[in-house]
Amino acid sequence: MKEKTIDTFKSKKNRVCLVQTRRGLLIKKVFQDKKSFYTERRELRLLKGLRVPIVVRATRNTLYITYIEGRLLLDEFLERESADMPQLACSLAAFILSFYRRRGVAPSDVTFRNFIVKENCCYGIDFEEPSEGGKERCVARLIGFCYLYDTAADKKTAFCAALLQAMGFGVEAVYDQAIGYISMLCERRKIIFDEESTGVFLNGLKSL
Ligand SMILES: Nc1ncnc2c1ncn2[C@@H]1O[C@H](COP(=O)(O)OP(=O)(O)O)[C@@H](O)[C@H]1O
Ligand SMILES: [Mg+2]
Repeated sequence: MKEKTIDTFKSKKNRVCLVQTRRGLLIKKVFQDKKSFYTERRELRLLKGLRVPIVVRATRNTLYITYIEGRLLLDEFLERESADMPQLACSLAAFILSFYRRRGVAPSDVTFRNFIVKENCCYGIDFEEPSEGGKERCVARLIGFCYLYDTAADKKTAFCAALLQAMGFGVEAVYDQAIGYISMLCERRKIIFDEESTGVFLNGLKSL
């Protein structure tokens, strides 16, 4: 397909760019390994109709998918105020719930860079890791990422409390998994895991 590269996105493992083709603006994702390519292609097929990109073309190790023109959930989370957190968290919960209803499992790789917010709706964009586990595990991971982002504590609390409420369970349901995930992320990022302040944060979500 004749194409012109318009933009290149941050990616650790793959090559992801925005390209202009005769079929319009598309995201071209060149996968480093075949397994991830197959997993993502399969997921996107199974998720058809939900808020995810549509596969326009698939070749060897490359997916051409529709471009979701919005902002990364991470940027929205970091740049918006506390008062905007409930709405943001609810749009993320709506996506996770729709995913779970369709697949019977939850998405695995849920960093805030793997979601795009467009017109107040949250879209999932990265499915190269096999989906597995329940809603609680997914929310524990989301809370883990949220907790470690560098922003005001009240924003994190507002976001996580609204997320739990929209998902329909309390922090108790995710407490141990969240602690475990945060400690794993700290180890991976080579930062000190402070169990006490993590506990204070999680317990702070109880009374809300
Ligand atoms: N369909 C899409 N629409 C808009 N932006 C996208 C889309 N797919 C990927 N991106 C951008 O590219 C980045 C990396 O893509 P992603 O699918 O998460 O791959 P990976 O994490 O494996 O590198 C995303 O964080 C996002 O900024
Ligand atoms: Mg990603």
